[in-house]
Amino acid sequence: MVTMEKIISLAKRRGFIFPSSDIYGGFAAIYDYGPYGVELENNIKKFWWKNLVRQRQDIVGLDSAIFMHPKIWEASGHVAGFSDPLIECKNCHTRSRVDHLLEGIGIETDEKMSEKEINEIFSKNKDKLKCPNCGEKDFTDARKFNLLVKSNLGNFTDNWDKEPVYLRGETCQGIYVNYKNVLDSTRVKIPFGIAQIGKAFRNEITARQFLFRTREFEQMEMQYFVHPDKEMEEYEKLRKDRWQYYLDLGLRKENLKWNKHKNLVFYAKAAYDIDYNFPFGFDELEGVHARGNYDLSQHTKFSGKDLSYLDPKTNKKYIPHIIESSVGVGRTVFAVLTEAYTEEKIDKEMRIVMKFPKKLAPVQVAVFPLLRNKPELVKKTKEVYKQLKSEFVCEFDDNGNIGKRYRRQDEIGTLMCLTVDFESLKGDDLTVRDRDTMKQERVKINKLTDYLKEKINV
Ligand code: GAP
Repeated sequence: MVTMEKIISLAKRRGFIFPSSDIYGGFAAIYDYGPYGVELENNIKKFWWKNLVRQRQDIVGLDSAIFMHPKIWEASGHVAGFSDPLIECKNCHTRSRVDHLLEGIGIETDEKMSEKEINEIFSKNKDKLKCPNCGEKDFTDARKFNLLVKSNLGNFTDNWDKEPVYLRGETCQGIYVNYKNVLDSTRVKIPFGIAQIGKAFRNEITARQFLFRTREFEQMEMQYFVHPDKEMEEYEKLRKDRWQYYLDLGLRKENLKWNKHKNLVFYAKAAYDIDYNFPFGFDELEGVHARGNYDLSQHTKFSGKDLSYLDPKTNKKYIPHIIESSVGVGRTVFAVLTEAYTEEKIDKEMRIVMKFPKKLAPVQVAVFPLLRNKPELVKKTKEVYKQLKSEFVCEFDDNGNIGKRYRRQDEIGTLMCLTVDFESLKGDDLTVRDRDTMKQERVKINKLTDYLKEKINV
């Protein structure tokens, strides 16, 4: 069975995900992507970009900056309302989100609730809640804690904390404030979308869920601008597309489900999450939201710029409504690691193999000499490696014995392992082992590239 411990351990052991600042004891809720992690996340980002930008005429890309005018975060409502309710354990000083602890005992709260309202519910249920770290029941009162991360960028006064520039809390604000630039500089017409992948930062209170909730993370967001009358029709289309995207990505249907938001923010028309069955249970992977005209209306009000759209057919002006798809790269990596993790019993031994879909596998081909201390085998293996490395993500591996190499490559999820042996020197062929079936085939080296292209086919 896949557990958090198994995923975290494999991710570190095999060079996917490292805790940040590891040699300094780590840095809470921040992670680094190792050599295989970065290949995996790049493949995920490439797949998302292809699905939403390359394959659609009506969606264009963007890469906006992390730092933006501070007024943007006032207009968006983040300065006033982007907060989570925090309590602190008086015994061990662990901070927790009281809404999550209440959810754990079946009590739903609402993010619009005031500090006073949260505290009323909290005090009624205090004796049922335990600190997740030490188990004590002695907490401070709840207070709302703003999640925006401040910087002192461009502010050379001692007053910087009072007029902060924020690190963006979500990437989509960069899309909203560039909507007019895109409209004026390209040939898009409503309905159209803008997609971007980029870093976001949040001062998350809890730091216990691996890649699920981190303080620095990447988002893949697509904002689709529509006529007000078409909002719900386009929303349903987007929901369908996003569901299919996850099936195409390789997540199993039984590990996905829709979660309809019970409490909508005042401007929203509809909001659903796509939840994934993480090792700790089903939770949000992506949000699909119908946001009305809130975003462009707010930026019109705060910037003083007219962000309405002049319909070329009717000659009428309106503020476009927005539907969005928003997902974290880290959460997707976590879901893909969970989905791929497989334990198999082979001849009474346990094999751990990461069964990544071909398009996501961080390494496609590994080449080994049967014995590392035979120069003629190593020479031939290096020739094969040279032949393949420009066509495939390819690795030369001569560490340990062949069994250990298979074990390592299985845990990385390498699709094909190629072994050069003494026969290869005579017959100019080698053994190809398939990751999933473990079947071995002899293939001529001069046919190898075509053979692998057909097998890998991405
Ligand atoms: N623009 C809408 C927005 O940002 P959100 O529900 O706050 O909505 C969207 O975030 C997605 O971003 C989430 O579904 C999740 O995949 C990812 N995400 C949000 N906060 C995250 C965090 N602290 N760590 C990792 N991913 C996060």
